Amino acid sequence: MKAIIGAAPSLSGEVVVPGDKSISHRALILSGLAEGSSTITGLSNGDDVRNTALAMQSLGVRMDEVGAGVLIVEGGQGLLHEPDAPLFMGNSGTGMRLMAGVLASFPWWSVLYGDASLSRRPMDRVALPLSMMGAKIEGRGSSCLPPLGVRGTQLKGIDYEPPVASAQVKSAVLLAALRASGRSILRERLVTRTHTEELLSMFGADIEVHDGPDGHRVVLNPSPLVSCEVVIPGDPSQAAFWIVAGCIVPDSEVLTSHVYSGPARLGFLDVLVRMGADIDVHVIGDHLVNVRARYGGLRGIELEASEVPGVIDEIPILAVAAAVAEGRTVMHGLGELRVKESDRLSAVVSMLSALGARIEGTGQQLVVEGGARLRGGRVDSKGDHRIAMAAAIAALATERGRGEVAIDGFDSVDTSYPGFIDDLRRVSRGRCSVELLLDDSQQES
Ligand code: S3P
Repeated sequence: MKAIIGAAPSLSGEVVVPGDKSISHRALILSGLAEGSSTITGLSNGDDVRNTALAMQSLGVRMDEVGAGVLIVEGGQGLLHEPDAPLFMGNSGTGMRLMAGVLASFPWWSVLYGDASLSRRPMDRVALPLSMMGAKIEGRGSSCLPPLGVRGTQLKGIDYEPPVASAQVKSAVLLAALRASGRSILRERLVTRTHTEELLSMFGADIEVHDGPDGHRVVLNPSPLVSCEVVIPGDPSQAAFWIVAGCIVPDSEVLTSHVYSGPARLGFLDVLVRMGADIDVHVIGDHLVNVRARYGGLRGIELEASEVPGVIDEIPILAVAAAVAEGRTVMHGLGELRVKESDRLSAVVSMLSALGARIEGTGQQLVVEGGARLRGGRVDSKGDHRIAMAAAIAALATERGRGEVAIDGFDSVDTSYPGFIDDLRRVSRGRCSVELLLDDSQQES
C-alpha cells in the first residue's frame, strides 16, 4: 500500500498510542509459561504481537479475548507440547529471538520462520548463548539466518555478557534460563529495556537485578511461574512519533497519554530536550507518564554511542527532528540499525534526502546538516514500519505548497501500529490530505 500525505497546518489533541509492543510479546510468553489463568489488558494490536500469540497457541496455550483489549491466557507446563508445524513470526525479530529462548528449554524440535525481512536478520546472537546452554540451533550461513531450527533440551545455566547491547538477546537467555539446571547471570554494560526482568518478577520468578558502576546484572534461578494480571502501558516508541510531530509542525500542541516510562525507553525525550524542545512530562503512575509537546525551534546535537540502546527504535523519527533543527546533528554508534527490519541507517538517509534534507550515513554514523525546508517526494519505506511512520510525520512538517510525500510499502505500519493513520487524521483535525492507495503490485494481483 502507498500513502500520500500532505503538510498539516497544525496539530492538536490527545493520542492514546497502542500498548507497548515489547511488553506485549513478553506478557504473552510468560503468561503461557505460567501455571493457571493470567489476564492481559491493553495488548499491542499489531501483527508482530499477534504472531507471538499464535505461536504460543501452537504450543498449547489457550487464549480468549473477553472484551476490548482484555485477554485471558490459560498456560502452564501441563498444556505445552511440541509444535506440529513451523511457527511463523512475521516481521518480528523480538518474536523470533524470544521464542527461540523458550523453545531451547523444551525437549522438542521446532522451526521458526518469518517474512523476507526477518529472513535476513542475524540469529547467531541468540544461537550462540543458547548453544552454550546446551540447545542445538541451526540457521543459514555464518550469521544463522532464519528459518531457525531449535532442538531443545535440559539446559544448563550460563554466565553471559552479550557482545551487542540487545534486550532481545538478554530476554532469550533469561527465558531459556527459567528451565535450566542451575543459576544464570546476564550482564550488560549498557542497560537495555528491562521488561523481561520486570515481568519475570511479576510472574513470581526467582530473580535479582543489580545496577552499579559495572552496569546491569540479572541473576535468575530456575523457577516455575505463577499466573498474574498484566496491564500494558502505551508504547513510548510509538508516542515518539507524535511527540516529534508536536515539536516540528508549526502551531502544534500534542498530548500523548499513558506512556511507559521505565528504563531505557524514554531516552528520546532527553535527546529532544537537549535539542531545545518544549516538552512537559507528567508522572501519572508507576512507570507511567503523559507527555505534552509544543512546537518550537530545535537545534542540532551530538548523540553518543552510549545513548543508543536507550533510543534504538527512535532514531528514524529523531533524524526527522534533526533535519528541521538549526545546525548539525551527529549520531554515533548506529551499527545495530543496519540489522533492523531494514538497513535503517540507509533507509533514513534515502527517506530524508528524498524530502530535501541534507543527510549522510556512513559506517555507524549519521550526520544531518539541519535547517531543511522539507518538501514532497517519494519515499520507499523498505517494508519497515518505523521508516514509513517517520516519513508520514516528516510529510506533516513539509512546507505548504511544496508537494506531498508518497510512501511506498505503507502497510508495514500494521506490524506495530494499525491505527496510525486514524490518529494522524485525528491530531491534524482532518486538515491535511491523506490518501491510501494499493501499490502497483497489489493492483495487478
Ligand atoms: C526489543 C529490543 C530492541 C528493539 C526492538 C524491540 C525488545 O532490539 O530495537 O524493537 O522488545 O526486546 P535489540 O534487542 O535488537 O536491540
